[in-house]
Amino acid sequence: MNTVANEPFGLIIQAEENGSLFSLDKDQIEKSLLDNGLLLLRNFSPTDNEQMCTFASQFGDLMKWDFGYVLELQIRQEPENHIFSQGRVELHWDGAFAHAVPRFNFFQCIEGSAESGGGETTFLNTVKFLESLPADQLEQLQDLVIRYETEKKAHYGGSVEAPLISHHPLTNKLRMQFIEPFNEDNVEVNPVITEVVGKDKEEGDNLLRLINQLCYQSRYFYDHQWIKGDYLMVDNHSLLHGRRRFEGHGLSRSLKRIHIL
Ligand SMILES: [Fe+2]
Repeated sequence: MNTVANEPFGLIIQAEENGSLFSLDKDQIEKSLLDNGLLLLRNFSPTDNEQMCTFASQFGDLMKWDFGYVLELQIRQEPENHIFSQGRVELHWDGAFAHAVPRFNFFQCIEGSAESGGGETTFLNTVKFLESLPADQLEQLQDLVIRYETEKKAHYGGSVEAPLISHHPLTNKLRMQFIEPFNEDNVEVNPVITEVVGKDKEEGDNLLRLINQLCYQSRYFYDHQWIKGDYLMVDNHSLLHGRRRFEGHGLSRSLKRIHIL
């Protein structure tokens, strides 16, 4: 097994060939995930839903949604929620509208879209992002509280208020929780109403646009182009994620995802 850095953050763990996920040291993986935010596992054998759940359960209880434990992320013809649409998905953290926020997201790529274009999953390492912000900018964002509201159309919905910047519950480092507003691809399907608590609309919207801009300009923003067989483990408390719009024939992309509490 061989471990190399993933740019601009995270680690890639490569097995020799057809490695078994179960040969990985659970404690080491967990520590690495908290230290690096993202682990990409390559050259490991495919697993079915049951095996995926067994592997993921080593790290904690699995979050049960109304579809069960394993979400199949495929594009649908008439999507009820835009995560199943062709458009781009705004940066967000998982579980914002749920009863609990999963610690880790665990993905398996069943079919990639690397050759067809689009559909990359986007990640922002918010711990590194905040560390890299100039002091005055950090101060400007430090005490903001943001309110989000969306209708429940698939497996999540409701309204929530969250401080923009808070401490990671496990590492205590500063991290940012944010759902990116003004996503032009999601105005029709499943919009999220976003406002900065205590600010008038103009000032609030200006702050939200500034945060959007800082996220996408950050050197700690990563586009992951999926290759069939990839496994990805993500620290959902420190990373935000979204998705690029699908282009051309990218629609065959198929992923499975499990939330670990
Ligand atoms: Fe998500």
